[in-house]
Order: sequence, then structure tokens, then C-alpha cells
Amino acid sequence: AEIMKGQYDHFMQKEIYEQPESVVNTMRGRVNFDTHTVMLGGLKAYLPVIRRCRRLLFVACGTSYHSCIAVRPVFEELTDIPVAVELASDFLDRRTPVFRDDVAIFVSQSGETADTILAMRYCLERGALCLGVVNAVGSTLSRETHSGVHINAGPEIGVASTKAYTSQYVALVMIAVQLSDDSISKTARRQQIIEGLYHIPKQIRSVLEMDKVLQQMAKEMLGKEKSLLIMGRGYQYATCLEGALKIKEVSYMHSEGILAGELKHGPLALVDEHLPVIFIMTKDSLYPKVQSALAQVTARKGRPIIICNEDDNSVSSEFKTFRVPQTVDCLQGLINVIPLQLLSYHLAVMNGVDVDFPRNLAKSVTTE
Ligand code: G6P
Repeated sequence: AEIMKGQYDHFMQKEIYEQPESVVNTMRGRVNFDTHTVMLGGLKAYLPVIRRCRRLLFVACGTSYHSCIAVRPVFEELTDIPVAVELASDFLDRRTPVFRDDVAIFVSQSGETADTILAMRYCLERGALCLGVVNAVGSTLSRETHSGVHINAGPEIGVASTKAYTSQYVALVMIAVQLSDDSISKTARRQQIIEGLYHIPKQIRSVLEMDKVLQQMAKEMLGKEKSLLIMGRGYQYATCLEGALKIKEVSYMHSEGILAGELKHGPLALVDEHLPVIFIMTKDSLYPKVQSALAQVTARKGRPIIICNEDDNSVSSEFKTFRVPQTVDCLQGLINVIPLQLLSYHLAVMNGVDVDFPRNLAKSVTTE
């Protein structure tokens, strides 16, 4: 069947707006909100092997790589297994050592990205268990891996990935929860995460309802800015990288995601009264550290825009803010990425970019 834009101007916009439903589709029939458990059929037979592995190796490109970065902390916390996250091209360039007792997880929307497929074949040859986290059913990655999880986000047409990111993120958190369900000491944490997942769809919807505010922000940024920094740390590092990638891809504006912990090691030199800096400052254990990065930037006359939680009274009213609902720390990135997707979309439209087909980019990069 032909996929239509319906009421939307672009597929990217439609796909951003689909997220309250697409994340539900990722969880449907797999997350039990009464027993606080996850059952992913494709992983069931492999659970003992995965739990005993020497390392979890995540391999991906682009946005899919960012979803791996987003879930690394929760995998480390729930599984106590060492985790490596690799860009497929670099992983191959280095001929990274891989062992029979490694478990490699390949994350890809299309399942057809050349570098990710080559990395998978490289790991298969070395005897690692290979799992796919893929959107496109029947794709090369889903066929050639030992097993895996389909994210069920539905077809994604826009070159800039949006709903696939949030669904990959949810699917990966689900894998981490399922892997840890033999650990009694982590029961409360699993329960907290699953309750958090339950509320995510309506929280995403409430952010989408504030779209006009982001459209206005994009208008104010337009033309004036040459570059935009997005700063955060911990769980929000991935949000920074993904937000910056969205802005680059569709608005052609330079943007960089910066780990706030690295601020003093270079990026601070860029800060002046002209450079817009978005701070991702939702409440978690690293909040005080992000606050101090903010102080560093304002001391140099930087012009921060702050993404913070609705009820956060400690953010000074002198700053421009965008307020989002709070969820469990490891899920907050699912909410925080939404305003950045919308901002990049509006910047692109206002710049006259063909949003769904930005110049020089392809939806699926099938050559090395
Ligand atoms: C291309 C697309 C990106 C995507 C990346 C990885 O660069 O433009 O949106 O994130 O490939 O694609 P995959 O299908 O493997 O997730």
C-alpha cells in the first residue's frame, strides 16, 4: 500500500507526530505492565548465552548509533556486563578483536546499511552471537543475524530518522530489562522503568502539543546563526548527538552535540554572546554538573536555551526555556529528543530545504 502524508506537509513531520503510537507498537504484546516484565520472543532461547557473555557489542551508524549510546548506561546498570558501542565503519577499519563469547547487537532502521551488514558478517565469522534490532522486516540484517527484535515502528520515509530512534531506544531498554529479570536485586528498578514506559506515549504527545513554541524558536534562530551547540551529559549525551545530527541533516546548519564534561577541554573556546547553546538539563543525578557547565557558558556571555523539567524552579527566568515532563532518568532521552526533532524540522522548512530528501543524503547507505 502506498504510504501517504495525510494531513502532514512532510513525512518527517508525520513521523515525528506518529511517535506516541509507534512507541506503543514497539511495546505491544511484549511489555506486561501488571507483572512488570518484558518478553521478547526472539531473545528467549538466547538469554542464558547473553547473560554469560564477555561483552555486549553494539554496532550501528547514524541515528541508530545514537540509540545505542542512549541505552549504554541502562545496559551497564541492569546487566553488569561490559558494553562497547561502535560505529560500524570504524569498527571495521580497526579490525576490532571479536570473540566467540561476545554478543554483538546490530541496530539499523533499514537493515540494509552496508557498513553495519559488513560488521555483522565480520562478527558472524568470528563466532559471536549476532542479534539484530531492525525496523525493516525481511531486510538483510534481520535475515542474516541469529535472532533479534523488530522495532515495529512502521515504515519510515523521511531521510532524517525520527520515530525509528525512539522505537530503537524503547526496544533496547526492553532488551536490557528482559536480560536482567533473573536479578532479584534489580526488581524495583525494572518496575520503575516499566512504569515509566507506560507513561511515555502521553508524555511525548504533550511535548508535541507545544510545537508552536519550537516553531517560534526556529524563527528567532533563522538566518542569524551559523552554528548551534547542544550540551548535556550522562543519559542526555545521546540526545545531544542526535539533536545535532537532525539539525545538520535537514537544516544544513552546523551543529554539534557536546558532552558537558568535555566543555573545558575545547568547546568553551567557541562560546561568545552570538553562539546559541542548547542545554539539556532535565533532573537526574548529574543535574548539578550540568548546572555548573551552564554557569561556565553564561560567564562567557553565552546565550543558552534550556530544556528542563516542567516543575524545575531552579532555572533562572532570565533564560529561554523549553519545559518537558519528567520520567525515569534512563527514559528521559525519549522525551527530550522530541523538541530537537521539531526544532530541526522547522529550521529546515524555514530554510526552504526539501525536508524529506535533504541534499547529498540517502535514507539507506548501501555502499561503503
Ligand atoms: C543514513 C540515514 C540515517 C540513518 C543511517 C543509518 O545515514 O540517512 O537517517 O540513521 O543511515 O541507517 P540504518 O538504516 O542502518 O539505521
